[in-house]
Amino acid sequence: MVRSWVEYWNREEAMEGNAWIRQSEFIARRIREEFSFTDTDALLDLGCGRGHVVAALAPFLREAHGADTSVHCIAEAGKRYARIPNLFFHHLDPESYPEIDRLPPRGLNFIFCISVLQYYKSIGEVRTLIARAKKIAAPGCRLLFADLLIDYNIYKDVAGVLLGGMTAGIFLARLREIFSGKHNLYARIRSENPVLTMRWKDLEDICAAEGARLRRIRRNLTGNLFRGHALVELP
Ligand SMILES: C[S@@+](CC[C@H](N)C(=O)[O-])C[C@H]1O[C@@H](n2cnc3c(N)ncnc32)[C@H](O)[C@@H]1O
Repeated sequence: MVRSWVEYWNREEAMEGNAWIRQSEFIARRIREEFSFTDTDALLDLGCGRGHVVAALAPFLREAHGADTSVHCIAEAGKRYARIPNLFFHHLDPESYPEIDRLPPRGLNFIFCISVLQYYKSIGEVRTLIARAKKIAAPGCRLLFADLLIDYNIYKDVAGVLLGGMTAGIFLARLREIFSGKHNLYARIRSENPVLTMRWKDLEDICAAEGARLRRIRRNLTGNLFRGHALVELP
């Protein structure tokens, strides 16, 4: 019996399959085009899943970290990418996930959160995340919140996921997911645990309160056409 988003993503079969790997390749490629990394940079990928995106970025960084509430994902990522010497994985406590300063990394230049904030319980948790990020950030650290359900319309979102699947080369794989039992479970969990939607104004208010600058990235970073991507520049 699965009762929460954390439990849903913690199932052994979550994020299995080629569609996730292909989408991760697309995301990593778009991110590398959007950001110029140097070998002095340290990055944390929060909600890294099976670690495909952070593993693709690690060779361009001094240090790369992935963290996730799913023990299965972290174990699998650790095994699969054990040969990358500057890549480290951490389990994130499901009871205190926005308190990311509990994790070991320090002096971070980038914190990425890709397709994750929709599984937070409230916008207040997003503010906690930004406040805690300041404690482990190097000056000028940038937080990327990608794939946000922002100014959300469910019909537009489904269309964007399907159409975007073509851009990312995973259209058929996505259709198969939608018509599979996997999607039924997702829909059931979603009816019992709503996803977090937000407005740009919510993020603007949080950034103003935390002394950060908010920038909107209009490029399709994730293959989901109508999702929002926010770049939060910490002081
Ligand atoms: C849709 S997947 C995205 C994975 C990866 N970021 C990507 O883009 O391929 C969502 C991930 O977020 C993780 N997750 C869910 N709730 C979380 C939370 N509150 N804090 C951190 N990670 C969470 C899940 O375990 C899962 O790995």
